[in-house]
Amino acid sequence: MNIVMAASECAPFSKTGGLADVIASLPKALASKKHQLTVILPKHRSIPSEIVSQLQFECSFDVWVKWRKQYCGIFSYESEGVLYYFIDNEYYFNRSRLYGEYDDAERYAFFTHAFFETLTHLEILPDIIHCHDWQTGLIPLYIKAGVYQHPIKTVFTIHNLKYQGIFPTSVFQELLHLDPVHLGGLELNGALNFMKAALVHADWVTTVSPTYAQEILQPYYGEGLDPFLMERITSFNGIVNGIDETIYNPSSDLNVSVPYHRNYAGKKENKRIIQQELDLHVSKDIPMFVLISRLVEEKGLPLLTHILDELLSTETMQLIIMGTGDSEFEEAFQWIANKYPGSCRFINIFHEGLAHRLYAASDFFLMPSRFEPCGLGQLIALRYESVPIVRETGGLKDTITPYNEFNGEGNGFSFANYNAYDFLHTIRYAIHLYYQPIHWNRILKNVYKTKLNWEHSASKYEEVYDNVLTMQCNEEENYVHNRRESKSVTKREAHLIIR
Ligand code: GLC
Repeated sequence: MNIVMAASECAPFSKTGGLADVIASLPKALASKKHQLTVILPKHRSIPSEIVSQLQFECSFDVWVKWRKQYCGIFSYESEGVLYYFIDNEYYFNRSRLYGEYDDAERYAFFTHAFFETLTHLEILPDIIHCHDWQTGLIPLYIKAGVYQHPIKTVFTIHNLKYQGIFPTSVFQELLHLDPVHLGGLELNGALNFMKAALVHADWVTTVSPTYAQEILQPYYGEGLDPFLMERITSFNGIVNGIDETIYNPSSDLNVSVPYHRNYAGKKENKRIIQQELDLHVSKDIPMFVLISRLVEEKGLPLLTHILDELLSTETMQLIIMGTGDSEFEEAFQWIANKYPGSCRFINIFHEGLAHRLYAASDFFLMPSRFEPCGLGQLIALRYESVPIVRETGGLKDTITPYNEFNGEGNGFSFANYNAYDFLHTIRYAIHLYYQPIHWNRILKNVYKTKLNWEHSASKYEEVYDNVLTMQCNEEENYVHNRRESKSVTKREAHLIIR
């Protein structure tokens, strides 16, 4: 299959969250299954200079955003069987932030128009266009509206339903090349909602774990979009993310002080080094917990702030928290770190290399999220043989099985209710088992054998693509007939109507 992915971020070019890791690794996994993979991305300022110098200029053309005629350059880059095209426009993408700018609607409307122009100019005729998150939500709508001449099948993946791309309705007139009949498919509660547009118009919708797919059908997790997902019930599923085991590999990771693999002694050496560096009490036997996260409410941090004092004053343990975010959490963690200097550290930055070393040094990884579409932290923790303690939600529930001391199954610890004391008791239970070699060794064995790579999930995406391609397409119902040409348009004749 010829698959084109559209996304706004992809590691190592640009990253604000887990989306970037998925776009970095899923296309490679599919390419290794002999599909043709192209990824189209904005050329953000954040691309490391050593990669920028390797980009190949392909062509340039004008892209219209209503009356605005904008320059668009295309740069290409190839890596591990995947072809990347970067959409270049300094005005829109040479910014310090990927999102949160006053003109995000215009920037991603431009990206949408440029995406289709790129397909036309480079004569790419995909079987499937796979879009990710709200920044690419207009693409399925433009295809269904007949703005692009080929009725290519689209798949849309929700990485986090909370971020929807909500803009004033005036944007419709000012920026989008759509007939007013399409306003309804884009509008929600008196505003435009790019995510809704995708949920309504994509041929198939996926999200990043089966449990999250179930959860977001209900109002509690649905972020106001659950009614539209309910309507998609027969063309909507959850596929859990994998991780790139070559990037996350404790036996070859250059960040890790002492490489190890299924060797607890090696891991403890990393713990000792981190304890020395961070001026914590040096002892290989004290259980070390880490939390590495964006410091926002949805990550379940209120549960942690609620119990930290009680936990650290009663248990022999060490806790290292790393991340940046809301000041209420930054202040609370700094306060607690000051109060317990021998056992708690707060590292108020995000540093990729140090994060890898903390995964390597720790015995436990905390992730008490209120909701979690998939979560990558717990997968990375498993890879670095750190035992996850999670709340049973979304992908955390799908990837972590709580340890059962009676049958010896389980690769971590978990609790169900969003309740601080349930979290506290789970941590205490985990510490209790940490000191019992019979149980601890079993848990570690289960951690070692957890499958984390993309193999299984990539085949699930193949199934989705196959389904979509064989789906009966009722043109009458699905497409607005404003395509100008007959069905036999060739690649070369495929012009955009958006000019
Ligand atoms: C988002 C979600 C996270 C998920 C990631 C990749 O960042 O919040 O749970 O793992 O996307 O799909």
